[in-house]
Amino acid sequence: MKTIAVSSERPEAEAIERAAGVIRAGGLVAFPTETVYGLGANALDPTAVERIFAAKGRPSYNPLIAHVEDVGAAIRLARSWPAAADLLAGALWPGPLTLVVPKSPEVPDVVTAGLDSVALRVPAHPVALALLRAAGLPLAAPSANRFTQISPTTAAHVAKGLGERVDLILDGGSTAVGIESTVVDLTGGAPVLLRPGSIDVERLEAIVGPIRRGTAMAGTRARPSPGMIERHYAPRAELRVFGASEARQVREVVRSARAEGKTVGGLVLGRPAAEMDHVLPMPADPAGYARDLYAALHRLDDLGCGLIVVEAVPDISAWAGVRDRLRRASHDG
Ligand code: TXA
Ligand code: MG
Repeated sequence: MKTIAVSSERPEAEAIERAAGVIRAGGLVAFPTETVYGLGANALDPTAVERIFAAKGRPSYNPLIAHVEDVGAAIRLARSWPAAADLLAGALWPGPLTLVVPKSPEVPDVVTAGLDSVALRVPAHPVALALLRAAGLPLAAPSANRFTQISPTTAAHVAKGLGERVDLILDGGSTAVGIESTVVDLTGGAPVLLRPGSIDVERLEAIVGPIRRGTAMAGTRARPSPGMIERHYAPRAELRVFGASEARQVREVVRSARAEGKTVGGLVLGRPAAEMDHVLPMPADPAGYARDLYAALHRLDDLGCGLIVVEAVPDISAWAGVRDRLRRASHDG
């Protein structure tokens, strides 16, 4: 594995050309997007895409997002292009929004895990866009972490998690959004939210009308989206979320964890409810919190925390993406 530093605003052509060469040769390149780092391969090459699943240790029933350089490239991978896709893509691409649409036969089954639909996204990061243009290919790219581990928001996170399993890492610094894209399914009648992200769903509804919340399906036998698999995005430590009125429970849980010799970390918005080994104050706005969340969890993991205590974030739609990731990372669902 080799890491190349690249400007996140004006990516150097030489670095991008080298990465595009790895992609064209069927290799794996980790690259920054505005959300998290992706682990990319040529989406039209089934053998290359299989290497993604192997590197991540990801089950093959989990479909991948195909990243493309513009709406035209997205439409070429779609069998049909719903009116809602036009509206959402027109308003929000490039950006942290993934649209699930009927798949064109050109997209290999390994990308979509055999589904008849494909997830498409035009990322807003200059490095990701430059790589897509230089390669001249769509890039299948899940987050660049081992399956069920915390998504990477820096090149160092990628190297720590995937090591030699990736051929090249483009290091474009920390990602700005910090949590994975919002995923909306447009294959049925009304759009369905499969995974909340940084874009407030009310903003999407202002563009396309009512959107069904799909996350209620989590844990049922239907598995329309791997974003719905519980215990995703998890740190090695046990993570527990407590409300503001639960200070007594926090003190109790922390006391017994420390009595067992565990190192205890905390993510707090205000004052910590108990004395802990490592307290990380988090931004009080959802965008700032999302940006810093995975780096904070990686850090507490690196510090050897056995328990991470998280102060609950507000239960309003602007925080839905962060709440979803905290819920998935916590052991008690
Ligand atoms: O922000 C992101 O989306 C990042 C960056 C790298 O773009 N990628 C990412 O990929 O998070 P991944 O593989 O970790 O998550 C893939 C998501 C799933 O949670 C699922 O919701 C959706 O994509 N997905 C992919 N194909 C689908 C399909 N055919 N039907 C429904 N959902 C699909
Ligand atoms: Mg992921």
